[in-house]
Amino acid sequence: MSAGELLLEAIDVVLEYHDGTRQVRAVDGVSLSLARGSFVGLVGPSGSGKSSLLFALAGLRPPTKGTVRMLGKPLPARPDASAPLRRTEVGFLFQEPFLVPYLTVRENALSHTVGPEAIERVESLAEEIGMASMLDERPHRLSGGERQRASLLRALANDPALILADEPTASLDQATGQAVMAVLRRQAKDAGLLVVTHDPAMLAGADRVLYLRDGRLGEGDA
Ligand SMILES: Nc1ncnc2c1ncn2[C@@H]1O[C@H](COP(=O)(O)OP(=O)(O)OP(=O)(O)O)[C@@H](O)[C@H]1O
Ligand SMILES: [Mg+2]
Repeated sequence: MSAGELLLEAIDVVLEYHDGTRQVRAVDGVSLSLARGSFVGLVGPSGSGKSSLLFALAGLRPPTKGTVRMLGKPLPARPDASAPLRRTEVGFLFQEPFLVPYLTVRENALSHTVGPEAIERVESLAEEIGMASMLDERPHRLSGGERQRASLLRALANDPALILADEPTASLDQATGQAVMAVLRRQAKDAGLLVVTHDPAMLAGADRVLYLRDGRLGEGDA
């Protein structure tokens, strides 16, 4: 795989929610691309559609209109046989940390891993982000910021080609947030990284910052 290779491409993506009588167009015709080796920031007001766009890009919610191409292939409109493959190649960090309550941090991180090297990767990442002593704890004993970092371990356990991170530092102090961003930026050298954040300080070193407003994209300052 070469640097600059397109990992993700969104073409005119629309995502609508139909919620009883309410219809919300959360993403309104977004086109973007993410190349291997690039780090892109995504900012915008609360409710502007950032999380919704990430769901569509990851294949977690099929777009109402438009196409998402991941690793050179269009995402199917419904879950299909390639979904397990995407789970190992895409590291997704949810805005609300998502952990299985009856598994330890380590077990959560390793729950969908392939290959023995994941164990070492998780341990060394845990060291870097101050989670080494928490690996054998269960999520209910962790603080919000620790849960967020535990989710990061899970997202990166397979050394994914594409990382989509929704507010990965929202519950962290600046120093811990920067440690998390350092890990993500390093990972982005061989992968593609898209980070949603409300904190412009976390986007230092980004190749591009995209601005979302009312589901529409512009390029702008963080
Ligand atoms: N499951 C859902 N059903 C209906 N509407 C939804 C759903 N999820 C989000 N929305 C609506 O879609 C719009 C975009 O929401 P989204 O969560 O993508 O925004 P966001 O930019 O991530 O906001 P924040 O910065 O607060 O996380 C909002 O108007 C929200 O109310
Ligand atoms: Mg959000």
